[in-house]
Amino acid sequence: MKRALIVGAGGMGRTWGRNLASHPETEIAGWCDVSLPSLEAACAEIGVTPEIGTDFPALLDQVRPDFVVDVTPPEIHHDVVNLALRAGVPVLGEKPMAHSMEAARAMVAASEESGKLYMVSQSRRYNAELVAFCDLVRQIGDIGILNADFYLGPHFGGFRDEMPSPLVLDMAIHTFDAARKIAGQDFVSVEAREWNPGWSWMKGDSSAEARFTMANGGVFHYRGSWVAHGCMTSWESEWRAHGSLGGARWDGFSGLSGEVVEGSEGFFYPTRALEPQIPPQFRGGIEGSLDEFLWALETGGTPQGECHDNIKSLAMVFAVIQSAAERREVSLDEV
Ligand SMILES: NC(=O)c1ccc[n+]([C@@H]2O[C@H](COP(=O)([O-])OP(=O)(O)OC[C@H]3O[C@@H](n4cnc5c(N)ncnc54)[C@H](O)[C@@H]3O)[C@@H](O)[C@H]2O)c1
Repeated sequence: MKRALIVGAGGMGRTWGRNLASHPETEIAGWCDVSLPSLEAACAEIGVTPEIGTDFPALLDQVRPDFVVDVTPPEIHHDVVNLALRAGVPVLGEKPMAHSMEAARAMVAASEESGKLYMVSQSRRYNAELVAFCDLVRQIGDIGILNADFYLGPHFGGFRDEMPSPLVLDMAIHTFDAARKIAGQDFVSVEAREWNPGWSWMKGDSSAEARFTMANGGVFHYRGSWVAHGCMTSWESEWRAHGSLGGARWDGFSGLSGEVVEGSEGFFYPTRALEPQIPPQFRGGIEGSLDEFLWALETGGTPQGECHDNIKSLAMVFAVIQSAAERREVSLDEV
């Protein structure tokens, strides 16, 4: 049984509480939040009685957990993760890794210097349809264009309504990270725009468009609005990809299709439909990321979301923000 210390007892912290409490190989040994009432309410809601406290360094010292789960707001991640890693405790942390590239690089350095695993839970990677879409994309040859459209209008309140780039930093990180998984390659530069419609209920830019160049010269287009009423997409976005051998589509729900060329005659070459393969008995979302983290602790293997890889998704976020601010193409090496 592995003993976890959760930091953060807000909306997502409670979701993590339920995940850890129901997993047969984990228990909640400690739970920290700066708000004691939130903490007590979270423990009562989930029916657990861990050590609790508002002072993370003191609780870490007292509980001595096998791992920390960081579910604080993005600007707190750096301090929580650094402290845990430097105390010799591996961390499974919520996305986005950090509120700046400088903070993220310091977190990667802390993982290297301590020799402890820091994995970012990109829960949307653990989606059976996404895995099936990646499989279709692998069959369409050298990818030339990949498009993602994201339109949702959630009213969260809280930190998202106050932060400068809520769509790009808090949400598009998932879509950019998924694009890296789907394309199976790195991205080199981006031209982007961020804006906020006059009627938006968020203070920061709630809408964005970005054109990334991939390592093979192909292009990834992202278009998103987090203040979209009606006609909404799924949280996964709506996707289309075309490569040297065919095309593939995913509506972000269960609609998946793909076609590859068969023959080289006629105005439009004949095509054959691809059969989407949904992986059986798949554990999705944060259940999947907890399973992969525990597997990595057990075997020493490298999980998806390991900080050296995940920082490449975060670099896409900050390159978009810089490109939009400076109105020019930005190389991902610059951020
Ligand atoms: N993967 C997903 O689908 C998903 C969904 C929602 C949120 N998230 C991520 O989870 C994280 C938390 O989001 P949330 O919606 O739960 O936010 P929230 O505001 O509901 O909760 C954050 C909690 O952290 C506590 N906190 C703040 N500073 C602290 C500190 N220094 N030490 C201890 N506790 C502190 C707050 O009191 C609050 O209870 C964010 O990084 C967010 O992006 C991920």
